[in-house]
Amino acid sequence: MSSVAPLKSTLPSPPGPSPWRALRAYGRDPADYMYQLFLEYGEVAVWRGLITVYALNNPEDVRRVLSQAHPAYTKDLYDYRVLKQTLGNGLVTNDGEDWARQRKLMQPMFHHKVVNAFDEAINGFTSTLASQWDQLGPDQPVALERDMSRVTFQIVAGTLFGSAIDEHAGEMTDILDVININTKTLDAFFTLYPRIPTPHNLKFRKVMSRLDHIIYKVINARRAKGVQTRDLLDRLLSVRDEQSGQGMEEKQIRDEVVTLMLAGHETSATALQWTFYALSNYPEVEAQLLEELDRVLGGRPATAADLAQLPYLKQVVQETMRLFPPVWGIARKSVEAQEFGGYQLPAGAYLAITPYALHRHPEHWPDPARFDPSRFSPQNSQGRHPYSYIPFAAGPRTCIGVGMSMLEIQLILAQLLQRYRVRMLPGHPVVPHATITYRPRFGMKVLIEKRRSTH
Ligand code: HEM
Repeated sequence: MSSVAPLKSTLPSPPGPSPWRALRAYGRDPADYMYQLFLEYGEVAVWRGLITVYALNNPEDVRRVLSQAHPAYTKDLYDYRVLKQTLGNGLVTNDGEDWARQRKLMQPMFHHKVVNAFDEAINGFTSTLASQWDQLGPDQPVALERDMSRVTFQIVAGTLFGSAIDEHAGEMTDILDVININTKTLDAFFTLYPRIPTPHNLKFRKVMSRLDHIIYKVINARRAKGVQTRDLLDRLLSVRDEQSGQGMEEKQIRDEVVTLMLAGHETSATALQWTFYALSNYPEVEAQLLEELDRVLGGRPATAADLAQLPYLKQVVQETMRLFPPVWGIARKSVEAQEFGGYQLPAGAYLAITPYALHRHPEHWPDPARFDPSRFSPQNSQGRHPYSYIPFAAGPRTCIGVGMSMLEIQLILAQLLQRYRVRMLPGHPVVPHATITYRPRFGMKVLIEKRRSTH
């Protein structure tokens, strides 16, 4: 862990564009804008827009911020205040001692032994989707964003909370569409003032009350049934404070459940969509992957134990998340004034870490725009800076669901790719859209060709 450099007051402020130029360009494509900012101004740059943002693109600086976490760097920022309107005080938006207590409590549920045992359930949900794809005609387009969202939602709901929520999968995906907006838009800003009746606020209030209704219904049903299945919901319901003996407050349980459901499905769903997209554009990568899947699995679904025999599958997923990181931006507040890269940043600075830009840093990723999974082979990964690739963030606040999402993404792909070729629907535009997640603006319409029938 690198130490915090002492502040030298004579240091200059980082370079950056004029606010209005920046605002217009940011509005078009925020993720790509942050990348352009790096290409034009270097590894530390400032963007003075509605708020002043300091962009960090040196992996060492990123290591410093992410590995130290609270109290040197906090989430006491505008973006997280907006997210709190939905997620409350769940693990993503919580901070400080409260966060540490909740994280400790929930961590065992994400132990790899627990998560690997979800493989059967994941394959079950995937094969339900496959049986729907089996009914499709060859020219019938499919909304891939909808199908991937549904299956990843069913997995989170089914594995962490029992099946009680997965019946709401369709509705939850619609709810998420309203919630999942870029936090720096006016619509998002107005959610901080819920009494102002903007069209988005009215819609937002309606979906939030529906969301709460679903979650409290599930919590109450579980209480009535009695805690017994030992899933995450049971754990949240049965935990007691060591000193006071008090249980977790109802609102905190709601916040954790909503956080896990939302953080835990859209991210994996977008990673899956971009993987299908990349494979359809790179037939030689697809051919190599299919050869591996057919040779190792011969048509059957993969188990968690099989994944060690499928190294290229993992590399394809890693490379997809390099170019299309589902969480394209991460923000922290620097509590004290500090030096980064020879520039002075003030106390309270808004630090923007942009996996999308970092993953295209030409010093760490030669020919960055090329999709090449072999970058992640053990040989080619040697010596790479660990903080030059951070799709799941890093440090103490690294994604709690990293193991679960890698497992589900690989198992879903292993099953679907053996059975179908997924082709982009000609004429349908695939345009990235950086909301909270990095997803296709108009969804992804695809055609499904059958490769082989169920094993
Ligand atoms: C491809 C899939 C996923 C990606 C790319 C991803 C990415 C991330 C990133 C970058 C963060 C850090 C955010 C920040 O500090 O601002 C994060 C945090 C988090 N993620 Fe994920 N995530 C994924 C899947 C999941 C899944 C499946 C779950 C749970 C079922 C999950 C639950 C969480 C939670 C609870 C946090 C907050 C952790 C903390 O601060 O203690 N994520 N994720």
